[in-house]
Amino acid sequence: MDKNIVIIGMPGSGKTSLGKKLSEKLNYHFIDMDHYIEESRNRTIASMFEEGEVVFREEEIKASQELADTAQTVISTGGGIITQEASMKALKRNGLILFLDRPVKNIEKDIERDSRPLLKDGKSRLQELYEERIELYRLYADLIVENVLDEDTVVEAMAAAIN
Ligand code: S3P
Repeated sequence: MDKNIVIIGMPGSGKTSLGKKLSEKLNYHFIDMDHYIEESRNRTIASMFEEGEVVFREEEIKASQELADTAQTVISTGGGIITQEASMKALKRNGLILFLDRPVKNIEKDIERDSRPLLKDGKSRLQELYEERIELYRLYADLIVENVLDEDTVVEAMAAAIN
């Protein structure tokens, strides 16, 4: 199977670290979309947010369209990708969407050391975002894997869900 595996989920849910491990296990390429956007636009996500969230979302849609024709790639997305139908449509074209669901209380434990724009308002904002987004994560997901155990076990569960 050469479809991409597109990982969606809240900021701090483990999309990048577990996605990278999954790509190694499957012998797939790996792309972190936030990193891809920053590298290809030669600017930081924080600077886009300073101009307005919409500036970032437009770049995110374009990046999703640019990546739509890749194959055999694990793509970890930014937590808000599900807010843009155009992004999800593009990524779904050759992608299986995997929602990595990690409880907010577990994510909160890591937040203090984080500098991502939408996390800077702190814990209550994260819970609010989760409540705003959960229906969309579930709507777009082809597969849902809970991230509540150690990394290797969760990567195993992700690989098993795909096959
Ligand atoms: C965002 C999450 C970030 C990044 C941007 C917006 C969000 O990615 O795309 O700051 O809206 O939740 P991570 O989920 O990797 O933190």
